Amino acid sequence: MISTLIYRSRLGPSFEPSKLEELVCVSQSRNAALKISGILLFDGTHFLQVLEGPLESVNRLYDKINQDPRHDSVVELMRDYAPKRHFENLGMTLFDLRSDSPRTVLRSVIVAGALKFNLASDGRVYKFIKSFIRGSWRDQNLPQSEPASWCFVPDRSLVRASPGPLFVDQPCQFAIQPIVEPLRGQISSFEALIRSPGGGSPQDYFASIPAERIHEADLLSKEWAFALAKKIGIGSHKLSINLLPMSLVNIPGAVDILLDQITRNGLVPEQVIVEVTEDEVISGYDEFTTAIMQLRSAGIGLAIDDFGAGFAGLSLLTKFQPGELKIDRSIITDIHLHGPKQAILNAIVKCCAGLEISVVAEGVEKVEEWCWLEAAGIKHFQGYLFARPALNGVPAISWPVKVRR
Ligand SMILES: Cc1cc2nc3c(=O)[nH]c(=O)nc-3n(C[C@H](O)[C@H](O)[C@H](O)COP(=O)(O)O)c2cc1C
Repeated sequence: MISTLIYRSRLGPSFEPSKLEELVCVSQSRNAALKISGILLFDGTHFLQVLEGPLESVNRLYDKINQDPRHDSVVELMRDYAPKRHFENLGMTLFDLRSDSPRTVLRSVIVAGALKFNLASDGRVYKFIKSFIRGSWRDQNLPQSEPASWCFVPDRSLVRASPGPLFVDQPCQFAIQPIVEPLRGQISSFEALIRSPGGGSPQDYFASIPAERIHEADLLSKEWAFALAKKIGIGSHKLSINLLPMSLVNIPGAVDILLDQITRNGLVPEQVIVEVTEDEVISGYDEFTTAIMQLRSAGIGLAIDDFGAGFAGLSLLTKFQPGELKIDRSIITDIHLHGPKQAILNAIVKCCAGLEISVVAEGVEKVEEWCWLEAAGIKHFQGYLFARPALNGVPAISWPVKVRR
């Protein structure tokens, strides 16, 4: 089995392109010894490299290349497996786009793929090479700010902290995590995340409840989220809560119960956003649609949560379009390093722009992820980079500030 890996990277500031020949010369013999074949393309600012050979050798070499300070912004574009090589030349061949026209380079690449049919023009390897040579990959990759040009300054002005539950006989607790618009320095909403009585995860909380009472407990627990919001004084900020979709369907008068909880705690329906995930809805779309109509008629906002995790979420999006769509952390984590995640995210952003849906990136932890996502057009973020959830309180929020050089 031959493993194929393609990545793209950017020339590092400390690497002089005149040293490229030397790098290629050393790499050629190393690759040949590892039974690795492939090509390296350079257009003056960016590299595209195809590495192919035994899986272990390709992985080990890619790990090394990834750490190499002579280039940065390394993005993995493709991993695939094939019965034979696309390039028969063990070692590595350099194609320098600065010296030849795209057409000439493309022709020589095809010749370098010794057996032409190994580099089929409808195959992904050929298409990646072609889009790099033509420069069309740049259309999908807007310029982003340098992660190193930002520092994060904590703002503690809204911090509220409580050592324990705020009310007697509370069956669960809530932690508050802000969703922010970092470049405007604004809070989009506060999300109330359910915790077990001991402060454990939502899974801990729901595991302690008999299956037949899950939906009732889910709906009634929101009372404590609204009570917390009242106690800490969220003012006119929005509050996002999670609700199992079937809680709206299975509990008679669920929306009225929710509205009663909201008003009793001094909030208004327009400041509440109900976040739902698709997995449970699948069994009862019709009933769910009725509940959504009721919620929206009452003025409550809607969000699809964990979009892209498990069930794709696309099916739910065809049925109803919420005001907000939250992209699951599994797509967000290390997005700056991963071409397939980037392509999926760009498509989601485009789709939501067409439907006028706000997009929130969940689970943002690294400044590199945030810079990439901002460049892709996302404005709303949730994650440890900005604020960690605070049990029974409001956490400090770290706002990005441009470093002056
Ligand atoms: C754009 C680029 C492509 C590279 N390609 C290869 C390669 O194909 N094979 C190789 O051995 N090293 C390649 N290197 C160099 C490796 O990053 C690394 O320096 C080399 O494997 C030696 O690592 P070591 O001294 O830790 O063994 C490349 C470096 C850059 C910047």
